[in-house]
Amino acid sequence: MDTAFVPDDYFKRHSVLDIFGSDSPYNSYEIDLGCGDGGFLLQMAAHYPERAFLGIERLLGRIRRVCNESSQQGLNNVRGLRIESRYFLEYFIAPGSISRLHYLFPDPWPKEKHHKNRLVQEDFIPVLHRALSEKGELLFKTDHEDYYIWCCERLDASPLFQRVDWDEPFYPKTDFQLHWESMGKPIYQAKYIKIEA
Ligand SMILES: C[S@@+](CC[C@H](N)C(=O)[O-])C[C@H]1O[C@@H](n2cnc3c(N)ncnc32)[C@H](O)[C@@H]1O
Repeated sequence: MDTAFVPDDYFKRHSVLDIFGSDSPYNSYEIDLGCGDGGFLLQMAAHYPERAFLGIERLLGRIRRVCNESSQQGLNNVRGLRIESRYFLEYFIAPGSISRLHYLFPDPWPKEKHHKNRLVQEDFIPVLHRALSEKGELLFKTDHEDYYIWCCERLDASPLFQRVDWDEPFYPKTDFQLHWESMGKPIYQAKYIKIEA
């Protein structure tokens, strides 16, 4: 099957059933935001067939690889969508849709004059809160200590999220994690749960 999700209308809000089908049997709807070539997403989908995984990616070549690979592996619980991350969360997906959001090795925009391009900003936190379902989770990993501190400071200061232990029995390393570890860099990770406002 073709696992690419190509919307008819980019301006309407989409439910997870629009994306995975109205008879969708899944018990968790998980987003890999900036999924790259999909190494993490495909392993998660194979390991957890009862959960649905949507890869979000702005680069066409990368999302094509994710879709081709998931189709070849017969992973019916995968979809790939080419879209910009913030637009997806703020305007595309219906509120309360996402069970778990994986935000793994995002671009850290290290220069101070580029900090405005970082996805996590004060005004992003309510957007994320609205997109997640009740008790929805954000799982975040980076090699960039400054961006890790930046994100944790904003999430810790928000009444909308609470930090919880990283308690993941199966959580494959992404391609970027493997790359940074091979260069001896430390990895930072954090998990937050949505608090009802
Ligand atoms: C550093 S890579 C990490 C890829 C993957 N998560 C991993 O850990 O291997 C960041 C990815 O996010 C994508 N990306 C960056 N900004 C994005 C945005 N605003 N919307 C969608 N994708 C984005 C990039 O194209 C790239 O594939």
